[in-house]
Amino acid sequence: MSKLARNIPIARPTLGEGEVSAARRAILSGWITQGPEVDAFEKEFAEFVGAPHACAVSNCTTALHLALHALGVGPGDEVITVSHSYIATANAVRYCGARPVFVDIDPRTFNIDPDLIEQAITPRTRVILPVHQIGLPCDLHSILSIAGRHGLRVVEDAACAIGSQIQTAGNWGRIGQPHGTVACFSFHPRKVLTTGDGGMITTRDPNLDRMFRLLRQHGMSVPDTVRHSAKAVIFEEYPLVGFNYRMTDIQAAVGRAQLERLPGMIERRVELAHRYSDALSEIPGLTIPWIPNGRRTNFQSYAVRVGPAFPMSRDELMQALLERGISTRRGIMNSHQEPAYAEYSAARLPCSVAARDQVILLPLYDSLEEDDQRYVIDSLHELATGPHRGGK
Ligand SMILES: Cc1ncc(COP(=O)(O)O)c(C=O)c1O
Repeated sequence: MSKLARNIPIARPTLGEGEVSAARRAILSGWITQGPEVDAFEKEFAEFVGAPHACAVSNCTTALHLALHALGVGPGDEVITVSHSYIATANAVRYCGARPVFVDIDPRTFNIDPDLIEQAITPRTRVILPVHQIGLPCDLHSILSIAGRHGLRVVEDAACAIGSQIQTAGNWGRIGQPHGTVACFSFHPRKVLTTGDGGMITTRDPNLDRMFRLLRQHGMSVPDTVRHSAKAVIFEEYPLVGFNYRMTDIQAAVGRAQLERLPGMIERRVELAHRYSDALSEIPGLTIPWIPNGRRTNFQSYAVRVGPAFPMSRDELMQALLERGISTRRGIMNSHQEPAYAEYSAARLPCSVAARDQVILLPLYDSLEEDDQRYVIDSLHELATGPHRGGK
């Protein structure tokens, strides 16, 4: 194939006849929002991650908002999190009227550096909100022990981490059991499992789960599923101010079909990621992902750091790859560098800033053809042998 004929996207959701017939089933059932398909998806999701409770919502941003709100986070409170995440993480804290307190990342994992958490704790801290960035579990055990010492709750931003695992006392467990108080997932098309848009909140606490269910549907005391099957007239009440964060049955039906594919999708991503790592590890100036012992990533994204020893800058590399028909993305953003967070612009988060500026995400999706991946790898090797920046 000629170089110009290539058009390799950064990501592509895996959707097929299974999802089409699931959506059709929901549409023709006559019940298309927060009904039986949502119930079934919640049960199957809970079973997959090993959680006692799973509550479906409209996306992961609303999941994070509900989680923090249900834990009582409000004005005057602080939530310790990272700037180095999609802006939704920090925004969810802001929705509660609380203040995100940004801690820097470990440059090797792109996740919150547990060694920096304790110095950020104040009497106003209520929650630690770590992110399992691009699918790699953060150092949950260290975070949980800090939270335990200070009486704080841990809300896991697991937007990208469905199917990722951590080891506890020798046993592997999926993210979302959850290990903290609550875990929040995203089903956006850039994630491994997609429902178009969608989210899930898991917890071990039945009272919190009840609160999520109330809050996701306007605070309505009797769910539609109960009213519709009741033999006597029931009137609902609205004991508190809730939100409309419902998931539709069409999305849930698609999610159920995606769950069936999930183990295979993750296996394929891991295989492709290892192929990248084997082929790129020797290129001077490129740093391949580092997976610490006791953690397994679903490789939601494949991130490579472009260091000074590489002949071109990260941005030049992205452009050169684009000219060869290969789409890439820059690394994860930092909220504190965005205008919406201007009051944080002086924050000292050097590892977050370096990660945003140096990291490139390579194409990774389970239908990525081996020939296309070989082309990406060969292109990186060719560009690595070019003249060094500044002609040196
Ligand atoms: C780490 C992280 N948190 C939260 C979100 C928000 O997820 P959603 O788009 O489902 O609201 C994303 C989405 O990209 C994310 O990557």
